[in-house]
Amino acid sequence: MIVKRVAAVVVAWCLIGWVTFSPAHADTRYGVASAHPLATQAGEAVLARGGNAFDAAVAVAAALAVVEPFSSGLGGGGFFLLHRASDGHDVVVDARETAPAAASKDMYLDAKGEPDARASLDGARAAGIPGLVAGLDHLASRYGTRPVAELLAPAIRFADEGFAVDGRYVGAAGWREKVMQADARTASVFLQDGKVPDKGFVVRQAGLARTLRAIAAHGRDGFYTGEVAREMARSVRAAGGLWTEADLAGYRVIERIPHRFTYRGATIITAPLPSSGGLTLDQTLGILEQFDLASFSETDRVHLVVEALRRAFQDRARHLGDADFVDVPAGRLASPGYARQRAAGIDPQKATSSAALDAAPEWREGGHTTHFSVVDADGNRVAATLSINAPFGAGLLAGESGVLLNNEMNDFAIAPNAGNLYGLTGFHANAIAAGKRPLSSMSPTFVEDSRGVLVFGTPGGSRIITMVLIGLLEHLHGPGLDLARVVGVPRYHHQYLPDRIEVEPGQFPEAWVAALKEKGHTVQEGRRRWGNMQAVFVHRETGTVVVEGDPRGKAGVLF
Ligand code: GLY
Repeated sequence: MIVKRVAAVVVAWCLIGWVTFSPAHADTRYGVASAHPLATQAGEAVLARGGNAFDAAVAVAAALAVVEPFSSGLGGGGFFLLHRASDGHDVVVDARETAPAAASKDMYLDAKGEPDARASLDGARAAGIPGLVAGLDHLASRYGTRPVAELLAPAIRFADEGFAVDGRYVGAAGWREKVMQADARTASVFLQDGKVPDKGFVVRQAGLARTLRAIAAHGRDGFYTGEVAREMARSVRAAGGLWTEADLAGYRVIERIPHRFTYRGATIITAPLPSSGGLTLDQTLGILEQFDLASFSETDRVHLVVEALRRAFQDRARHLGDADFVDVPAGRLASPGYARQRAAGIDPQKATSSAALDAAPEWREGGHTTHFSVVDADGNRVAATLSINAPFGAGLLAGESGVLLNNEMNDFAIAPNAGNLYGLTGFHANAIAAGKRPLSSMSPTFVEDSRGVLVFGTPGGSRIITMVLIGLLEHLHGPGLDLARVVGVPRYHHQYLPDRIEVEPGQFPEAWVAALKEKGHTVQEGRRRWGNMQAVFVHRETGTVVVEGDPRGKAGVLF
């Protein structure tokens, strides 16, 4: 139900102020924002001992892999956006999963050629070759200053001694209870007597602790070769999956140039392909830049944002994929000329129907993930978005390794040739191929302007891009600098197909909804609020930082 609210509309750049937090420690020159207090503390302890932001990022990511196992993990991957202060070097460490060598574009089609979506979501066949451990090893060896063993110590402790589950864990376990019940070992680790645990139940992960120790002792080789790799490949194949030891030994992170663009004087530095985040944000903001936003009413502005998103997401569906495997017309999509052309097709008073934009396929994407942001006293920064895709990934542990498998294979277009039957044509750019990385929406982002640098991101599947966009618009157009507003602003979302504006429940007044419906939009309330944005802002003048976590995450909202 859309709420009636007397108060002023509570959408982007129009919220009442919230309090912004300084770091929990006395030194305000560094800060960590993450989805779990134990992970934040692990990162802050590294910084307090003089480690840099890259060291801290390794500690935070490893801790999250243990205490937020439904969001990310050693069995998953992600994107680390780094800024090295000493030489201004910006880079993305792409630790995205890859399709195993035996994967093929029709691996999820049955004998009749119909897609079996469950096979790409549940169990061993859903898992790509994990990238997180290679990412952590790369961060520590190339950018860090501390031994990996020291950085993994808190994660090992949390795995050995256990951690008490919170409401978000309980919600995620409820979502994936049935899948985890299907495997006794997985159920014994993550469930309580085979059922969704009560809040406060302590989860211990002895197998994961052993694997973390192997990584602490041998770096990436402790995971991608030797006993751990053998056990992962064996157990995945025994459960019907495709992994081989060679797939694991062959996994490599890729250093990529971040996607960089400007919007009204601010510089945005964010994720490149195979994340769609950078290009889709760039296209959306490029279209919005064609309009004098301040001259529009609030709902007219939201309409323009939605129309820009509709067009950028259409191009995402049609053209984007792993550019190491397919040609993506990135230059043309991000060009000002194309933005002008797309903007010219927008009627400020009337919704364009997605069908009228011309036929293109609907696409799916999984919905869990985590984000953290770290800044150290020297000005190094990390924005990292990590994932195993759905809550608890594929819902299956890789044997005795304690590693929970991802289901990122579902981020590929699993039926690229089934267009006429399922509306999935046009997915060739994101079709499955051996060694290819599935298209992602993860968008770790820096926003630099005259006031300072915002380091932020969020989980949330395809909505990640819209959440980062809305946060960014709030940051740049909102009244004053208020990080709590950036992470707290009520969210709406449009992704071209399905053709509707999804809104967080209970956040938008009826008049707001009515004005958008009047323009021809379908407005639909989601079942729950979404996202868990983690942000750090560094003031340019003073170098002091403020940190802020999403009120949804603090309130235990799961997405
Ligand atoms: N699995 C979520 C994403 O990569 O966008």
